Amino acid sequence: MKINIDLLKKFESGLDPSHPETSKIPAKVLGYGEISTVFEIEDEPNLACKRMPIFRHQEELDQYKIIYNEYNRILNDKVGINVPPFGFASFDCERYIVCFDVQEKLPPQLFGNKLIHTLDDDDIVTFLHQILKQLKKVWDFNKKGTDIQIGIDGQISNWAIRDFSPNSPRIDSQTRLYYIDTSTPFIRKNGVEQLDPELFLRSAPSFLVWLIRWLFLKDVMTRYYDFHLVAVDLIANFYKEQRPELIPGLVHVANDFFAKEAKGLDIKPLTVEEIRSYYKEDALIWTIFLAMRRLDRFIHKWILRKPYIYILPGKIKR
Ligand SMILES: Nc1ncnc2c1ncn2[C@@H]1O[C@H](COP(=O)(O)OP(=O)(O)OP(=O)(O)O)[C@@H](O)[C@H]1O
Ligand SMILES: [Mg+2]
Repeated sequence: MKINIDLLKKFESGLDPSHPETSKIPAKVLGYGEISTVFEIEDEPNLACKRMPIFRHQEELDQYKIIYNEYNRILNDKVGINVPPFGFASFDCERYIVCFDVQEKLPPQLFGNKLIHTLDDDDIVTFLHQILKQLKKVWDFNKKGTDIQIGIDGQISNWAIRDFSPNSPRIDSQTRLYYIDTSTPFIRKNGVEQLDPELFLRSAPSFLVWLIRWLFLKDVMTRYYDFHLVAVDLIANFYKEQRPELIPGLVHVANDFFAKEAKGLDIKPLTVEEIRSYYKEDALIWTIFLAMRRLDRFIHKWILRKPYIYILPGKIKR
């Protein structure tokens, strides 16, 4: 994929992380992540540029780039989950190194978090089923017992449908999906995690890093390798996306899938209660975390008088 690195450099140098939309090079935010922000830059309207200002040393970035490329390729070629055409760009800024994971831009209305508000309920069930079929490929691959194991974040906002009919995006068993969240490349080689977990902590307030490392990091690094937990997280998204009434039906669909199509993987069934309590805890953690990051930004700006390089989302409806 051809990437205009000069444009990205200009974009970065003209970016005010507190007001990303009013950057000197006009851009639109397509999505906010915990460690990243996805932009559509005006002069490159066909690309989604995921900005990650988290690297402190060149070696960190080099290792990240290797596994980012590898993860995309393994998913596409070995696991059989399609990812959009992708590229990568990075450069030094004054105090940090930034990279952009670049992807072909897909129409926003074809992402799962949008579709569950526009499709009818039967199609949403089919959509969930299609996602579960994709996820199963990961655990089928892992079961082969090669030296490589893959983790995946199955969240609803990480999937987009490929076959697009502008007037009626319908879903059936032939509908193909794209998986887009390849910026956290969970790869274990001979049991050793290749992704440096410290990278997850970079945007965390410095006064909390030790606590998060101690409380959550191990959990984050293992949960994406566990089909049951990935499915809990996926279905719990329906709380966040304001469609909780669908959850009991979706749990039923997932359990049916585990019992029949994924029988060989021996996945423990889900319960609605488990999803509810997971969601409550998860929402509380992220709400506190975001409040702490805002506090950190305030301290940087008004007390330390230092630039704050991360972009924080506005109010998130949960
Ligand atoms: N290729 C793309 N085309 C259009 N929109 C995109 C594309 N990639 C990402 N987005 C938008 O940005 C959102 C977030 O992207 P992504 O899932 O990659 O990151 P994240 O989960 O928010 O970040 P993190 O992994 O840092 O937590 C997507 O749900 C989607 O709305
Ligand atoms: Mg995501």
